[in-house]
Amino acid sequence: MSRIAYVNGQYRALRDACVNIEDRGYQFADGVYEVCEVRGGKLVDLPRHLARLERSLSELRIAMPMPFASLAVVMHEVVRRNRVSYGLIYLQITRGVAHRDHAFPPGSVKPALVVTAKSLNFAKNQNAAAHGIGVITVPENRWPRVDIKSVSLLPNVLAKQLAKEQGAYEAWFVDREGYVTEGSSSNAWIVTSDGRVVTRSADSGILAGITRAVLLDVLAALQIRLEERPFTPEEAYGAAEAFVTASTQIVMPVVSIDGKPIGGGIPGPLAAKLREHFHQFSAFS
Ligand code: PDD
Repeated sequence: MSRIAYVNGQYRALRDACVNIEDRGYQFADGVYEVCEVRGGKLVDLPRHLARLERSLSELRIAMPMPFASLAVVMHEVVRRNRVSYGLIYLQITRGVAHRDHAFPPGSVKPALVVTAKSLNFAKNQNAAAHGIGVITVPENRWPRVDIKSVSLLPNVLAKQLAKEQGAYEAWFVDREGYVTEGSSSNAWIVTSDGRVVTRSADSGILAGITRAVLLDVLAALQIRLEERPFTPEEAYGAAEAFVTASTQIVMPVVSIDGKPIGGGIPGPLAAKLREHFHQFSAFS
């Protein structure tokens, strides 16, 4: 079955789907995106993703291409047409198509919207969680507005590639003060030896992850102590557990950081518990 994409008002076979070469997303990375998990054919935490999307767009002064309700209809339709039961949906909005000029195009230029969906291998993801992943640390070199979910991801791409080349899966950025900000495509967490869960506050230096926000609800419900504060790689090396969160990874245990084993080099019990309980606190639509 060929995959189907929604591109500016039309559902197209993925191989025929294309955007204009003067799309500002292509020329300036002038756009934003969202990734939602799909489970049982349903979108996970869609309202929270749409709220973040609206914020990203408004920070960049890009108009919403259509009302929320219509966007949700398109997203469900893309999931349905691709017959995704477990996987992800990707949505991208750029400032639109115009002759190349750094300043914004005239208001008559409409934002461009692309939505795709793909199935993921559930067993493979579970297997990764059962074994845990390796993380390396890299210097933070992104712009300060990482709170905007912009498609401008070059530092993230380079960091992820470096991790891969070093046999790891994720790279954690470390700011000038020596604190971990977040991963190249995930939020970063550690667990102290007395069971406190630590993650950087969403105020600065990180994307306010939706998985992160839901996990805060899970922690509160399970009465697990939380500390929203920055931590250093050195503190992480000595942590009882570490994990990352992102929409398609949920809670993914980290078993090594910069080659040093964490929690004896096997996934920790708390990460497993949080992963297990996570979807009880998600909204499905
Ligand atoms: N990335 N931080 C960064 C830099 C991210 O790119 C992501 C997600 C997150 C976690 O956000 P959420 O929990 O809302 O997925 C944090 C997506 C999955 C991606 O780029 O593919």
